[in-house]
Amino acid sequence: MNNWRDDYDAWHDQFPVDAGADTPWHDLVRERLVLERDIAGKRVLEIGCGRGGFACWLAGLPRPPLRLAGADFSPAAVQRARAFARERGVRGVQWEVEDIQRIGHPDGTFDTVISCETIEHVPDPPRAVREMARVLKSGGRLLLTTPNYLGSMGLYRIYARLRGRRYTEEGQPINQVTMLPRTIAWVKRAGLEVSAIDGVGHYLPIPGRAPIRLRSWDGARSFTRWLALHSLVEATKL
Ligand SMILES: C[S@@+](CC[C@H](N)C(=O)[O-])C[C@H]1O[C@@H](n2cnc3c(N)ncnc32)[C@H](O)[C@@H]1O
Repeated sequence: MNNWRDDYDAWHDQFPVDAGADTPWHDLVRERLVLERDIAGKRVLEIGCGRGGFACWLAGLPRPPLRLAGADFSPAAVQRARAFARERGVRGVQWEVEDIQRIGHPDGTFDTVISCETIEHVPDPPRAVREMARVLKSGGRLLLTTPNYLGSMGLYRIYARLRGRRYTEEGQPINQVTMLPRTIAWVKRAGLEVSAIDGVGHYLPIPGRAPIRLRSWDGARSFTRWLALHSLVEATKL
């Protein structure tokens, strides 16, 4: 039987806490968040929070959430996040071990749900999206990021497959082929209204080397976002 939880515990051991929470996907979320509307005094869930850098950033805002849950499937990640928060004197995060496909909160608990780069790493991504929709209040907002393999990295995955190589995102155990149109369809099917999509990050894959990022492509985002690797879907529960 697969034991993805143990795999994830071991995976998290290899990396530091993303203290700056300054990845391209965190920046996409920051650009869409309206702090007064989505965070200040609100009930917020970050699910798939990893080692906790972004949740700590949320908790440290001048007007933080009323309630902030930072949840991840990996107990090792949650433990690292809790220790990181303690070290930095960050208060107010309720750290939880949760499966995004079976969230242990009642319906309509949160005003804002944020999930970055997580649904592509679970066996049933549409179920994960339905769960996030379920725990949102009516009028609540989802900010979801997941890779979009419609672009060059998708072609690279096909190439790797043809060469008999298994493609993984830095060795993660499950790596679904998510694509922006599919993500949008899952969000709509979960009963949410999509209010925005975005995407950055275009890469030139080179076998055996780190891909080269083509930053100039991000300048024409309204055209290139459909092919960008890092994609965001923003949606509201009606
Ligand atoms: C690529 S990491 C992203 C972490 C963080 N959100 C970030 O952006 O840096 C994927 C995360 O998904 C978590 N994860 C995997 N399966 C999960 C599940 N079923 N429920 C919740 N989190 C899960 C992993 O432990 C890991 O922290």
